[in-house]
Amino acid sequence: MSNRAILAGPASKELGEEIAKKLDIPILNYECKIFPDGETKLRFEGAIAEKTIFIIQSTYPPTDTHLFQLLLASHYLSQEGAKIIAVIPYLAYARQDKQFLPGEVVSLSVVSHLLRASGVKRVITVDIHSPEGLGLFSIPIYSVSAIPSLVYYVRSNLSLNNPLIVSPDFGGSKRVEAFASLYGAEYLQLAKKRDRITGEVQVERSKIAVNNRDVIIVDDIISTGGTVVSACQLLKEAGASSVIAVCVHPLLVGDALKRLRSAGIDDIIGTNTVPSPVSRVDVSDAIASHLKTIEE
Ligand code: R5P
Repeated sequence: MSNRAILAGPASKELGEEIAKKLDIPILNYECKIFPDGETKLRFEGAIAEKTIFIIQSTYPPTDTHLFQLLLASHYLSQEGAKIIAVIPYLAYARQDKQFLPGEVVSLSVVSHLLRASGVKRVITVDIHSPEGLGLFSIPIYSVSAIPSLVYYVRSNLSLNNPLIVSPDFGGSKRVEAFASLYGAEYLQLAKKRDRITGEVQVERSKIAVNNRDVIIVDDIISTGGTVVSACQLLKEAGASSVIAVCVHPLLVGDALKRLRSAGIDDIIGTNTVPSPVSRVDVSDAIASHLKTIEE
């Protein structure tokens, strides 16, 4: 019997099954019931024979439900004697990795404590919002990059004229640098201001030479779409021939997709860390390759 198994959590059934296929390890069967009040009940059948269980569970909205389902599964399976490795393709709360205003709770630190308390021994995520977040974990954590898969997808599917890769803010500069270097294109960073009270974003006007160029905005998350919409308006006014938005985690909350389309974004590409109408890039290979490096 294999010493490893995958639990494809309720938020990441398809992705979990893909990863299990690629690693050729069995899937754990379970029942998941969500009650009318929003509570989740999980039920596993039979004894847990596997020593290591990879729980694949992304924490996109409903964020707290998905996070709590992960905690429930981890608690039970670790109590049954399994070593739990949590694979959290989209790690919620990673943007609150410090106090931006006095009195704010550092949410990611709380998530890290909860994971550890529920028996998680190691965490794997995909493109964590910022590397500083890794430092809030007292168990090993690794952030797999989806950037090579995104570059491969864009290169193979879109024919672009002298593309310019753009980060909407300074925080995303390393990500954009990596994208541009793999793509073999120039890049630049815009400056974004976020009102810490209202959450409203504005990409600052600056002189940029984008005339007749295709622009690819690269960001880790598209949530409300505000950041990309603001950057797109600026780039189109500056003469860009087309603007494409590429992100790792397409949360696309509320009417974000409609908002992005009305702002004139020519294409939106995301990965399946979050299932959505734009999740065209599969991260199962990138995750499976990393899991292969973890010793039994
Ligand atoms: C923030 O720093 C992130 O990198 C994203 O730019 C941000 O989360 C996008 O959010 P929204 O789509 O709501 O502007």
